[in-house]
Amino acid sequence: MSSEQYFPGLEGVIAGETAVSSIAGDLEYRGYSVTELADSSSFVETAYLLLHGELPTAEQLADFKAILIESAEIDPAIYEFLKKIPLHVGAMDVLRTGISMLAHFDPQLDDESPSANIAKATRLLAQIPMLIAARHRFRQGLELVPPDPEGSFAGNLLQMINGREPSQSEEDAMDVSLILYAEHEFNASTFTARVVTSTQSDLYSAIVAAVGALKGPLHGGANERVLEVLEEVGTPENAEPWVRHALATRRRIMGFGHRVYKDGDPRAVILRDYCRSLALEQGDTKFELIADTLETVVRQEKGLPPNLDWPSARLYRYLGLEVDLYTPLFVASRVAGWSAHVIEQAGNNRLIRPVSRYIGHATRTYVPLEERED
Ligand code: CMC
Repeated sequence: MSSEQYFPGLEGVIAGETAVSSIAGDLEYRGYSVTELADSSSFVETAYLLLHGELPTAEQLADFKAILIESAEIDPAIYEFLKKIPLHVGAMDVLRTGISMLAHFDPQLDDESPSANIAKATRLLAQIPMLIAARHRFRQGLELVPPDPEGSFAGNLLQMINGREPSQSEEDAMDVSLILYAEHEFNASTFTARVVTSTQSDLYSAIVAAVGALKGPLHGGANERVLEVLEEVGTPENAEPWVRHALATRRRIMGFGHRVYKDGDPRAVILRDYCRSLALEQGDTKFELIADTLETVVRQEKGLPPNLDWPSARLYRYLGLEVDLYTPLFVASRVAGWSAHVIEQAGNNRLIRPVSRYIGHATRTYVPLEERED
């Protein structure tokens, strides 16, 4: 390949091969349409599919659920440390540190065999909700709520954070959001995880690096910024003037646009229906009306459809969740996809090391300190 071929942001560049998911056409995880998974599967089953490559049998699923419940316990030293982190520190930063701490207690840390990586990924799936909920409840001065061994992953996640049993529709909506967030090909955080893995580093290092990449507002951090937009708009009447002014002043509206989906993000369409139902159930459709107007105007004026973070922010609000938990919840789900990519990369590795085009100074001669001018 000529070194002169340069694609800023690697746009359109095929940077690797994967069997984990495909976004050409319908979004598919391991060949299964995400629409079908959202309709018929559960997050735990989807996570199993991503990690193991096949849908589980009833027995395999029951075993996987049992392992998730058994692995949820985390070392008390980690809880003690979470309590000591200053209260102003955001949930995403604490989660990044918390995952790094989990690595110190994992006996298989440096075992990079596929079975050890699946075991570590399964523990992370079980323990990340514990980290998120624990930090949230400590910060609020509340007691921890243990997971219910009979409960679903989504139900437990909500219950451990909010301290109350969710309704069936809340649990279903959370579960679908987790399915939709679970995997998305070579996005920035997944690519980060693969780059780290390509140096033969460990799964935890790859996941911690991926969390750092996800935090940014152009990626997973967008779901928290979306809620700020909705709150800033405030009322359905203000939506049209607000968005027209925002576009006129070239403001980037969080939750719109996508590097790959130019005609629309299928995940956003699926989740919007869950937003509608919960809003109607709660008798407050203000954010739905605001969202409709913004969607119409942004599409008219910029040709940009919403992405998944657009409905997920409203959904998490309807589920009674604090804004700074939104991106950590994305992590709770995406760890399944990241881990599948880590396992795939490790199984067929080649160091990821591209080249750059140099645009700096021409060659120059070193000037000794005493001869340099001020
Ligand atoms: N609001 C307003 N204008 C936008 C937006 C937006 N959200 N997104 C893109 N544009 C405009 C951009 O200003 C540019 O216009 P012009 O050609 O007039 O200068 C044009 O669209 C192309 O933008 P780009 O930044 O070159 O496109 P990209 O493919 O690099 O952008 C993106 C992808 C996701 C970074 C961008 O759409 C964006 O910043 N969106 C807002 C953040 C966001 O919602 N991120 C979540 C991404 S999807 C899920 C996830 O990863 O969590």
